[in-house]
Amino acid sequence: MSSSVRQTAWLIPGTSRGIGLEITRQLLECPNNLVIAGCRNPEKAAALNGLKSGAKGTLHVIQLDVADFDSIRAVPKAIAPILGEIGLAYLINNAGIGKEDTPLTLDPEVFLETLRTNTVGPVLLTQACMPFLNKGKEKKVINVTSTLGSIASADMFNHLGAGGVATYSISKAALNMLLKLERRDIVAIALCPGWVKTDMGMQAADLEPAESVVNILKVVTFAMAADSGKYLSHIGTVIPW
Ligand SMILES: NC(=O)c1ccc[n+]([C@@H]2O[C@H](COP(=O)([O-])OP(=O)(O)OC[C@H]3O[C@@H](n4cnc5c(N)ncnc54)[C@H](OP(=O)(O)O)[C@@H]3O)[C@@H](O)[C@H]2O)c1
Repeated sequence: MSSSVRQTAWLIPGTSRGIGLEITRQLLECPNNLVIAGCRNPEKAAALNGLKSGAKGTLHVIQLDVADFDSIRAVPKAIAPILGEIGLAYLINNAGIGKEDTPLTLDPEVFLETLRTNTVGPVLLTQACMPFLNKGKEKKVINVTSTLGSIASADMFNHLGAGGVATYSISKAALNMLLKLERRDIVAIALCPGWVKTDMGMQAADLEPAESVVNILKVVTFAMAADSGKYLSHIGTVIPW
């Protein structure tokens, strides 16, 4: 690509499979995109590494475990030489875990691990990325959440009963508060990808990853300052808190 065209840089953790892998794949269809794809085990991420061949954009794979704070603290050193003088345009806090449990039976260790991965990791990664977001034009932080984190929608999920997802829902409700960043110039959005056919969403889900992600990327790229602080679905509709 011409050196006179400034690339748009994206950092996405959780890209070995599922929605993160599909986001990376679609972004790499555009030569202007530089994607820094974080995953826990880069050497085992065959599908992710396979995206390099045929990619029009630029892919850099880095080791990043969002439940390991040292791994997050190593991110600035890893991405500084990749980004050079171009800032980070988009941080998509995508990595996540979820197990089935209920409020009265949940395992406290699973609860803490889920909070560490789904909530605290994204907060710390956002902090670590601030110097790079500051240099970027778009300055967007997208927290991949779930409608299961909507307290107002909790009754919709009563049917899950004993097969509920208590720790997961709590972790996403907490993540939603990360929208309240003290910096007004950062566009922060909580975005639910819909119910997607991945290892997490499973095959009964409504959406293919490609369909969810094509819409996610529209919402994310069109989001403006006025959208900051919103809790949105993959098609841009507002989800009640
Ligand atoms: N699928 C749905 O229906 C749905 C609905 C609402 C919200 N979401 C959210 O969408 C996001 C992606 O979900 P998905 O459906 O793509 O799930 P998935 O298929 O289970 O994939 C999860 C991804 O996150 C990575 N990951 C897990 N823990 C990690 C950690 N500690 N550090 C770094 N990466 C980690 C996994 O990497 P490994 O391969 O190393 O395990 C994998 O790449 C999650 O935040 C999820 O909560 C999904």
